[in-house]
Amino acid sequence: MKGIILIGFMGAGKTTVGKLLSEKTGMEHIDFDDKIVEEIGMTIQEYFDLHGEEAFRERETNVLKRYLDHNQVVSTGGGIVMRPENRELLKQMAPVVYLQTKPEVFIPRLKHDHTTVRPLVVSKSPEEIRQVFEPRIPFYVESASLVIDTDERTPEEIVHEILENI
Ligand code: S3P
Repeated sequence: MKGIILIGFMGAGKTTVGKLLSEKTGMEHIDFDDKIVEEIGMTIQEYFDLHGEEAFRERETNVLKRYLDHNQVVSTGGGIVMRPENRELLKQMAPVVYLQTKPEVFIPRLKHDHTTVRPLVVSKSPEEIRQVFEPRIPFYVESASLVIDTDERTPEEIVHEILENI
């Protein structure tokens, strides 16, 4: 089987679902954020503070290019769809699965996730987080070959639906 790329907003479950998909399919799991953190040798928050978002996006494009001929399960960072270049690359990499989630679901998750600091949402109000999310929706839809509604579904159910539909 060819690999599977997961896209979606922060807190959509890309990492959780990616790990489970990897277990079910036997394909390796790769997390682009982890790859970038390995390369930069600091946290994403520190990198944003030092070099800014644009430099981070450049790193993201470079990782994406390295995995064009992937046969792994890939969990991307939520902002990968921001660059037109990345969206074009993603389209060449199908199946790309958009894990669709509502702000009512992902905002509380983000507030309770203390494992990672996300510079674009840390210390933001729910309304400000929505303002980051909403302009991205068409980009997620455009980049995806499959859209899965994840609200009210367990990771197991989501994985089952992905494997039935790709
Ligand atoms: C970002 C999402 C993060 C990480 C960075 C920027 C974004 O990844 O790449 O903080 O712009 O949506 P997750 O979606 O895995 O949290």
